[in-house]
Amino acid sequence: MVVKIVLASRVSASAPSPSPSPASGGGGHRQPLCGCWFSIRNPQSHFRNPVLRLLCIESTCDETAAAVVTDSLEVLGAVVASQNALHERFGGVVPEIASRAHVERVLPVIEETLRKAGVTLADLDAIAVANQPGLVGSLLVGVCAAKALCVASGLPLIAVNHLQAHVYACKIASGEEVFPCVGLIVSGGHSNLYRCDGPTDFTPLGGTIDDAAGEAFDKVGSLLGLPFPGGPAVSRAAAQGDAKAIRFPRPLLDDPTRLAFSFSGLKTAVRYEIAGPGGDPAQVELSEQRVADIAAGFQEAVVDCLVGKSELALKMTGFDTLCVGGGVAANGRLRERLEESAAKHGHRLFIPPMSLCTDNAVMGAIAIERFKEGKFESLEMDVYPGLERIG
Ligand code: KG4
Ligand code: ZN
Repeated sequence: MVVKIVLASRVSASAPSPSPSPASGGGGHRQPLCGCWFSIRNPQSHFRNPVLRLLCIESTCDETAAAVVTDSLEVLGAVVASQNALHERFGGVVPEIASRAHVERVLPVIEETLRKAGVTLADLDAIAVANQPGLVGSLLVGVCAAKALCVASGLPLIAVNHLQAHVYACKIASGEEVFPCVGLIVSGGHSNLYRCDGPTDFTPLGGTIDDAAGEAFDKVGSLLGLPFPGGPAVSRAAAQGDAKAIRFPRPLLDDPTRLAFSFSGLKTAVRYEIAGPGGDPAQVELSEQRVADIAAGFQEAVVDCLVGKSELALKMTGFDTLCVGGGVAANGRLRERLEESAAKHGHRLFIPPMSLCTDNAVMGAIAIERFKEGKFESLEMDVYPGLERIG
């Protein structure tokens, strides 16, 4: 496929020169890249522009996504290319496959996003990209694409923390000021609680000490012979089951001093429930009802832990707002229980719609806040892969 990215007319050359390039309006930041100089357009130039527009790029795991957003959090265009079909037969995300798929998709996704938004790079004020946390190969693809577009267009680069962006999705979806708040991020790799004093001021409070909630859903889905990703499949099965039929453990829930989760033992408890210690769940034939009951019991245990620790975090911080993000926030039972908790304790609850819970680039609009604070990155910006563990 031939991919053409429409570049800004104000493309600044990479020609070595000691003075700011006229093409950047004379006010650009000059940065060294691979031994040559190029010019970044002056971020303040947006004040000539009544609307600030950012291109946001997301490639931390297995979704390639881009969005054009404004400083009033209007989404001009957004595209998400999911890789679920590529990873399904492996029962989990295969990092090498993910990064190769990002390479193939990143430019078509960006081009389609710009087309939908009806803009070219010349109409933008900055390029934002998630550079942490995530899979190293996946992160690199998005970051390299963003840097290349910055070099070609002279636009400034902004870093996005993917987990903080998940919290910010609550502000985008609700149109309300959600800060200060407690942020609960529940995704395939993370189950973290944050004290969020402002959109650029996050303090980790605690998280899982082993598996993440989404990871546990995915592994339990696989134990139950359900399709990948396990989260939606387990939650669909659970809807037909009796959550009280089997009581699974609620690790760490009774400890009022710790904001921590542990889902690894819970996953093992499900394995034992299916096949007994040492047994092979793949050899056990489960009736549809038993699958549903196990799914419902497991889901209820996870939800109890997430709701209980969120309540504890609100109590400890004294905040009255809970913002929830990440793929597991798409879980209907979790939403229901969080709503009950909010009604009971009188706190505000924000959970974005499904499309903004799972990975997307719209939430990269958190970069607008960094733009306003002048927090730009050099083109030497690195990626910070791995998991943000704070348990
Ligand atoms: O945030 P996300 O899209 O990707 C990252 O991990 O960053 O989250 C994906 C996770 C997967 O583990 C998936 O199984 C889980 O979110 N998930 C769900 C549901 N939908 C997605 N878990 C439980 N119930 C759901 N309805
Ligand atoms: Zn995510």
